[in-house]
Amino acid sequence: MQTLRRKDILGLEEISAEEINLILETARSMREIMQRKIKKVPTLRGRSVLNLFYEPSTRTKASFELAQKYMSADSVSVAGTSSSLVKGETLKDTVRNVEIMGIECVIMRHPVSGSSHYLAKNVEASVINAGDGMHEHPTQGLLDMFTIWEKKGRLEKLKIAIVGDIRHSRVARSNLWGLQKMGAEVVVVGPPTLMPPDLAVFGVKHFVDIEEAVENADVVMALRLQKERQESGLFPSMREYAELYGVTAQRITRAKDDLLIMHPGPINRGIEISSELADSPQSVVLEQAASGVAIRMALLYLLLGGIKE
Ligand code: CP
Repeated sequence: MQTLRRKDILGLEEISAEEINLILETARSMREIMQRKIKKVPTLRGRSVLNLFYEPSTRTKASFELAQKYMSADSVSVAGTSSSLVKGETLKDTVRNVEIMGIECVIMRHPVSGSSHYLAKNVEASVINAGDGMHEHPTQGLLDMFTIWEKKGRLEKLKIAIVGDIRHSRVARSNLWGLQKMGAEVVVVGPPTLMPPDLAVFGVKHFVDIEEAVENADVVMALRLQKERQESGLFPSMREYAELYGVTAQRITRAKDDLLIMHPGPINRGIEISSELADSPQSVVLEQAASGVAIRMALLYLLLGGIKE
């Protein structure tokens, strides 16, 4: 398979291992372009992309915009707060109005789970989900897998412990679907109040003790506490959460010696992960951000790369 036979990238639940392999291999070629002095190829010249962000973003938005520039696409970015959404325009009307101007691909971040699926059904343009509510963040899952794959040379049979707020995390959901499809063993650790009610669907083991969960782990992935999506009373206080579930050097002694430390960002230092560990040689947090550009270039290439007559 040399191309993605799909219009949209909405979640890793519906993407096959074969497609994930193609995306990772393509991202490796894209990373080579990023390492050049002149980071510019004509691949997407004449193709038009809309970045539509209804929630804050640093990494995802910047990396999509850079990916578009490196590949010579024409792009416009619209923030929810400065769009005609505030005057009452619907999502469907918003996108159909820019689609008629020539937009072929919409990158959307939205606070509502399922919003990307809704949009994809209602427009002809390709839709890439840049995070929809608590549902999925597929490009983050792909860049996390790419980072691990580059460092370890494989995903199969690696043990990956995902720590923290699984319940409200779209990053966790995309990683749970994607990593397991690629043959990794995934465990989750955190207070029961931060586990999703449908955890059984993923078929992963849940630990409440972090030291037990990271035993022989190849990767520990700490998650951001999704305060904006949490109801109150899920854990006593930030300090107590950090004391029990913060990833620190003392808590990972039972993991493998060549353990990778990951966090999708933005990090709440001293809460989800200690500063010492986030900045340690084991940490690949900044590599994750760089992988984001390569993965997003790969997706734009695979969805839009062909010549359009
Ligand atoms: N990881 C991630 O999605 O970061 P941003 O919210 O900054 O895009």
